[in-house]
Amino acid sequence: MKKFLALVLAALMVFAFVACNGTGKDNNGASNASDTSDTSDTSDTTEKATLIMATNAAFPPYEYKEGESFAGIDVEIAGKIAEKLGMTLEIKDVEFGSIIGGVQTGKFDIGMAGMTVTDERLKSVNFSDSYATGIQVVIVKADSEIKSLDDLKGDGSMKFGVQQDTTGDIYASDTIENGGYGKDNVVRYKTGADAVQALKTGKVDAVIIDNEPAKSFVKANEGLSILDGDWVKENYAIAIAKENTELLEKVNGALKELIADGTVKAIIDKYIPAE
Ligand code: ARG
Repeated sequence: MKKFLALVLAALMVFAFVACNGTGKDNNGASNASDTSDTSDTSDTTEKATLIMATNAAFPPYEYKEGESFAGIDVEIAGKIAEKLGMTLEIKDVEFGSIIGGVQTGKFDIGMAGMTVTDERLKSVNFSDSYATGIQVVIVKADSEIKSLDDLKGDGSMKFGVQQDTTGDIYASDTIENGGYGKDNVVRYKTGADAVQALKTGKVDAVIIDNEPAKSFVKANEGLSILDGDWVKENYAIAIAKENTELLEKVNGALKELIADGTVKAIIDKYIPAE
């Protein structure tokens, strides 16, 4: 856990640095309003009518599918941001691990997926200001022998399920000396929901995942519980290509307004009712 704290603190420091440098201009995209219909003959290729958001929609309450459409905190906040920028939001549901690469190459404009700001990710993309926080927790079966964090061991006696490429995966797969459980003891699944399924069927003994999805999964599945613990806070933010500083400024401008006028809080409260 100490290692987790160090990692997250390091990430926060870099994040604060980037946030201070990347913002400050009041650029809310109002100039887009007149040219949505004739983007083809404008010379500025960064202007376009669609904002493509990559996400991994198996992470309630941040993003999930409701029939054919998408719902969740990120989906609604992104909708509001697009609205402010005079753009239409288009959502692509992809593997979590391919979001950053796709943002980097310009396949997606933004990556928004309850994504934690980390040092490693900051090497590849920029992050917007943070709009929410998360905490890594551990889900076990309610009748498990594992009763507390101290019972978790990387000695080969238990398997840890994670969603591949998430911070839960990164922490758990780290060496025991670094506070992890060793990558041989970690089973990586495509989605958090798959990891929870594996816990239910006894393929893994614990699942490490963000707290709000953990609560959603425990609520939706009988016989699971979340271990009490002294947890580390992570910051969620929107990934944007390093070259696309114009979009970063616009997104931060929109986010600032949406935070200031209470929209972000109202969306979060709608999906995460106070206990
Ligand atoms: N916060 C964690 C991370 O950034 C997990 C995010 C998983 N998100 C998702 N939509 N599946 O690694």
